[in-house]
Amino acid sequence: MTNKQAVDLGDVSETLMIPLWCRAIETGRRRPILRDPRAQEIVAQLDYDFERRFASQRDLAFRACLRTVMFDRWVHEFLRMHPGGTVVEIGTGLNTRFERVDNGALRWFDVDLPDSLALRRRFFSDTARRRMVVGAFGDDDWLAQLGSAGDGPFLFIAEAVLVYLTEETVRRGLNAIAAAYPGSQFVLDTITPRAIASQARRMMQTYRAPFVWGCDDPRTIEAWGRHRCLDSMTMLDLPAELRRRVPLKHRLAFSYLRARKPELLRSHALHRFELRPPASA
Ligand SMILES: C[S@@+](CC[C@H](N)C(=O)[O-])C[C@H]1O[C@@H](n2cnc3c(N)ncnc32)[C@H](O)[C@@H]1O
Repeated sequence: MTNKQAVDLGDVSETLMIPLWCRAIETGRRRPILRDPRAQEIVAQLDYDFERRFASQRDLAFRACLRTVMFDRWVHEFLRMHPGGTVVEIGTGLNTRFERVDNGALRWFDVDLPDSLALRRRFFSDTARRRMVVGAFGDDDWLAQLGSAGDGPFLFIAEAVLVYLTEETVRRGLNAIAAAYPGSQFVLDTITPRAIASQARRMMQTYRAPFVWGCDDPRTIEAWGRHRCLDSMTMLDLPAELRRRVPLKHRLAFSYLRARKPELLRSHALHRFELRPPASA
């Protein structure tokens, strides 16, 4: 007999288990770069074979968490400028960013597909400042639930989400947000078409959801509207404060890749945009 929570997710939705597990594993490490006890609790409560899926991939957990920490830093930065701002986590999965960054004043929305959000509702509840919204990036029917542009400023986040969508969907989704909330910020990650073609991602090979959207250059995204890329970074340009916290094993691996396969470190990039609709919109 098990009291664990059953999991019934579609192929793309099921990928939410990857970052959840990565945060739980990293939290269990000595001197982790990110602490997420909630992820550990949820992993323990789910009827899901994390061991079988991920046992051989523990090293990848740290790298995924580096991305998460960078996203958190950009959220902290936004909140320093706009303590009462609105943050919208798109494709939230079982993310616990709110728990990590809440300043007691922000408004927060967690947006995801129906099956992912149904699972999320078993572990999280709506509160006065935090609400879950069913919605698909690329459709704009859910945007009205976030309030008007005057309820901002807005920061939208999509971590490990847009890579599963087509370029046309990504473009449509960004431009819909730009039209509804001009001047909002959007934080997202990309992988290069070459990395998609090489199927190099070991973690992804255990899933049926392929990466679809490849992007080499954030200027492509800028050109879809009057979007402005405020920041871009890869694993080659981690801030010094974060570099110091990278364990020796990973530092050595990074040095090797920097010298021998820099394109691998460059293949995954994080970007922060300011969104504005095209002049004619
Ligand atoms: C790899 S998981 C990332 C989860 C979360 N961002 C994190 O870092 O823990 C991908 C997530 O994107 C969601 N997703 C996929 N397509 C989506 C879409 N069109 N709109 C919104 N969410 C989507 C999935 O349901 C899933 O929760």
